[in-house]
Amino acid sequence: MTHTIAVLPGDGIGHEIVEQAQRVLGALNLDLTMEQAPVGGTAYDQHGHPLPEATLALAKRSNAILFGAVGDWKYDSLPREHRPEQAILGLRKNLGLFANLRPAILYPQLANASSLKPEIVSGLDILIIRELTGDIYFGKPRGVREVQEGEFKGEREGFDTMRYAESEVRRIARVGFESAQKRNKKLCSVDKANVLETSQFWRDIMIDVAKDYPDVELSHMYIDNAAMQLVRAPKEFDVIVTGNIFGDILSDEAAMLTGSIGMLPSASLNASNQGLYEPSHGSAPDIAGKNIANPLATILSAAMLLRYSLNEAAAADRVENAVKAVLEQGLRTADIFEAGTTKVSTSQMGDAVLKALN
Ligand code: NAI
Ligand code: MG
Repeated sequence: MTHTIAVLPGDGIGHEIVEQAQRVLGALNLDLTMEQAPVGGTAYDQHGHPLPEATLALAKRSNAILFGAVGDWKYDSLPREHRPEQAILGLRKNLGLFANLRPAILYPQLANASSLKPEIVSGLDILIIRELTGDIYFGKPRGVREVQEGEFKGEREGFDTMRYAESEVRRIARVGFESAQKRNKKLCSVDKANVLETSQFWRDIMIDVAKDYPDVELSHMYIDNAAMQLVRAPKEFDVIVTGNIFGDILSDEAAMLTGSIGMLPSASLNASNQGLYEPSHGSAPDIAGKNIANPLATILSAAMLLRYSLNEAAAADRVENAVKAVLEQGLRTADIFEAGTTKVSTSQMGDAVLKALN
């Protein structure tokens, strides 16, 4: 069966890095159809909307989306609905992409990139799963209103609503347990159950869903402690599952443990394993068009695409091993360059990964 991949390069370095990932996917002898469409600021310039109908239609009928990045300062003055980042929000919403998977891996060859001591981070390989469609980011009501009673009566107040429906917690819990089953069978659920009703509810449901996964060891941690433990002893974790706001913060914190934003892939999945795969970094307008951006985060995102949406684990392993091989050969783009290694361009890094595949 042919797999269809929507290729949405976006803005800034998007085209340069996605091109390398596309070359890698094309070299695997799989039955793939890749179709490209504009997204983000590029799409706004061409079609007056950051997520044109045709792009959304392509995304919907594809097995997976390979996404570059969107955004540029030149769009900062546009009204919110025309801003490039609306494209990602629109894709998440329309495809129901509720599970965000962000691995944080520190490759041994890049141990010096982390700001933490090698003994704390060397060999780090953890997975953070962030719920993406609920929580205080989307809960209603929200807004600004007049305070009706108490100490601040008569003043204006800003407010949001933290909420999770039971089915929303159950489905992200399942993603957590199933991911843990594929790894080291340890799942840590992060919440703030000592203070928040939403979190106590979340925790109760995690405990209930755990009954279906007796082989996985479930633990719980408060968000403040988790933020601390991530820099104190990150290797104590394996898979972390958490809500939207806590996951937003923890996944960025975890990204910094590895010190190299150009190396971190991500996946956002829906209930039918359709997914959007993108590097964790943005469109890097400061280096766009110079052929110096690191394409490895995007190539590793393509490996996740193979693993999670196409069920091609062997091909995913091949890509990940090729990335390890080029690092082993001492090849580095500018962002991860250090004395004693060989500096290469974006396209040369792509060439090297292609060569290492075979
Ligand atoms: P950024 O991640 O684009 O860049 C931060 C720094 O990292 C820059 O110095 C950049 O040159 C460097 N960098 C990023 N990716 C790199 C790579 N592959 N190789 C080498 N160096 C790399 O974040 P920033 O500057 O805050 O945002 C730039 C634009 O990207 C903004 O418009 C922002 O809204 C957008 N953005 C888009 C995201 C997405 O499409 N999912 C995510 C984050 C930001
Ligand atoms: Mg963030």
